Amino acid sequence: MNALAGKHIVLGLSGGVACYKSAELTRLLVKAGASVQVVMTEAAEQFITPVTMQALSGRPVYASQWDARAANNMPHINLSREADAILIAPCSADFIARLVQGRADELLSLLCLARPIERVPLLVAPAMNREMWAHPATRRNLAQLAQDGATVLGVGNGDQACGETGDGRMLEAAEILEELEIFFAPKLLAGEQVLITAGPTFEAIDPVRGITNLSSGKMGFAIARAARAAGAEVTLVAGPVHLPTPRGVRRIDVRSAQNMLQAVDGQAREASIFIATAAVADWRPASSAEHKIKKDGSGQTPQLAFVENPDILATVAQSERARSGALYCVGFAAESENLLAHAQAKRARKGVPLLVGNIGPATFGQDDNALLLVDAEGHRELPRASKDELGRQLVAEIARRLGGTVSPTFAR
Ligand code: CTP
Repeated sequence: MNALAGKHIVLGLSGGVACYKSAELTRLLVKAGASVQVVMTEAAEQFITPVTMQALSGRPVYASQWDARAANNMPHINLSREADAILIAPCSADFIARLVQGRADELLSLLCLARPIERVPLLVAPAMNREMWAHPATRRNLAQLAQDGATVLGVGNGDQACGETGDGRMLEAAEILEELEIFFAPKLLAGEQVLITAGPTFEAIDPVRGITNLSSGKMGFAIARAARAAGAEVTLVAGPVHLPTPRGVRRIDVRSAQNMLQAVDGQAREASIFIATAAVADWRPASSAEHKIKKDGSGQTPQLAFVENPDILATVAQSERARSGALYCVGFAAESENLLAHAQAKRARKGVPLLVGNIGPATFGQDDNALLLVDAEGHRELPRASKDELGRQLVAEIARRLGGTVSPTFAR
């Protein structure tokens, strides 16, 4: 389950153009299974209407500390006690200053001050002009806010509503959602350094052509996201794919299998877990032409010779660190039939403790998948689900193995 399912979020909007992003954020939170109670300041109502926010959250919006809807007439107490977290997005420079001063003369700052501080975390997504963001007063206030226990999310960089360009844009809705998921996810891999390969490789024939495959990289990116949310430091070595880098993940882009091996080799010395999801090309053209190969009019096709690529997973799995147990290796197998038998054979051949099988044609490019986990104990199926969900389940399975306990549902 994703970490936001069943969570109750009080989403506070202070005044700023970025309020338009909070409408989308509300949709994403609801879609992730959270319930959202919107609270708006008077300034926020200048930018977006409570009607829109009520429609998207499915709950009446609160905007006044004198709101008499609750029997006890104490919305600041009721709203803050129900919350699993309070998220202020957008959080204006003025609202940050109000939080730092502990002001309580309107509902949103009042309920932040009234929240049970040990139990109800406060997260803020700042949004402001670049000069306001850089001002010493804002720097000082943000440092104080963090010291008071709030989680201050970063800001984006780029064109601002005022026409200037720089730091201070509120993060996009999807980025804030990812930050919240990271915040709530159990830290099963805290202290681990995870290295992941993902996507296809591209083996050049000449400067404009090459050999590749249909891997989209989605499974590897989902595992990177889940490992990061679980508290690991994650390095993602990605072949040519069109996917955004998961937040907080270090990404190294590569093209060929040889490039991938080189990048992995450098990183594997630090890693404690290596997960090879990449669909590495087994062969590459024996030589890559310096210039585009032209038709010569004779109807003759070019003769391509191939050489075998290095096996990145097997190379890492045979390293001293892997054999001593300092580096836990997980392989993937993309098969088209006889998944269990092939996966068991591949696990032995590659020399890895855990091998994850999937049916290649059914998963390449898709948003969902089904996995078969094979280790020394036996095998276990992770039934069809989104790749994000499977990424989280796989991370939990790896954490369990590193912690020394195996799932009770594992079949022998
Ligand atoms: N792999 C790798 N380097 C290669 C080939 C594969 O690191 N040159 C890794 C993949 O990332 C995956 C696992 O090895 O984790 C299995 O890859 P796969 O291509 O399915 O297996 P092969 O060993 O190539 O076997 P076959 O092609 O015969 O199925």
